[in-house]
Amino acid sequence: MPMLITNLLPVEIEFLSPLYDLSINLRDKILREPLGLQFNADELSKEDSDYHLGILHKGDLIACLVLTPKSKSVIKMRQVAVLESLQGQGIGRILVEYSESFSKAKGYEKIELNARENAIPFYKKLAYSTEGDFFEEVTIVHQKMNKNL
Ligand SMILES: CC(C)(COP(=O)(O)OP(=O)(O)OC[C@H]1O[C@@H](n2cnc3c(N)ncnc32)[C@H](O)[C@@H]1OP(=O)(O)O)[C@@H](O)C(=O)NCCC(=O)NCCS
Repeated sequence: MPMLITNLLPVEIEFLSPLYDLSINLRDKILREPLGLQFNADELSKEDSDYHLGILHKGDLIACLVLTPKSKSVIKMRQVAVLESLQGQGIGRILVEYSESFSKAKGYEKIELNARENAIPFYKKLAYSTEGDFFEEVTIVHQKMNKNL
C-alpha cells in the first residue's frame, strides 16, 4: 500500500523519559487493553537495559517497539504497536526496518520475536521466517520468527 502520511520521524526513546511514558500508554492501548491486561511496575522495571524505538508524527508517538539483547549477536523484538487508526499504512514496516538498521549498527546479527498469530503475515512480508510450533503467551497464540540481519 502507498504511504499515506508523511513527516514520520523514527527515534530512540530514553527509558523513563516523558516519551517512554507515551510509549507505555500506546503499548497498553494496542497490546494489553484488548486482552484485559495491564503493565505492572515490576515488568517495566526490567526494561532499563532494553532499547526503545518509536515513530513521531507531528509530535505524537504513533508507533513503538522494544529491543531486548539476548546475546552478543541476537536481539529480541517485542511489543510492536502502531496506533490503531494508522495501521495498514506502512508505519509498522518503517519502524521494523529502522529497528533492523539500528540493531545491525550495534553489531547484532539476528532478530528473533514471538509473533502474535494475527501479525505473522506482517512479519512474513518483512522477510521474517517462522520457527517451530504455535504456543500460547498472554492468552493468545504465537509463533517464533526470526531474521538474519
Ligand atoms: C502488526 C502491526 C505492527 C503492523 O503494522 P502496520 O503499520 O499496520 O503494517 P504495515 O502497514 O507497515 O504493513 C506492512 C506490510 O505488511 C502487510 N500486513 C500488515 N498486517 C497484515 C496482516 N494482518 N495480514 C496480511 N498482511 C499484513 C501490509 O499489507 C504491508 O504489505 P505491503 O508492504 O505489501 O503493502 C500493527 O498492525 C499493529 O500494531 N497491530 C496490533 C498489535 C500487534 O498485533 N502487534 C504485533 C505483536 S507481535
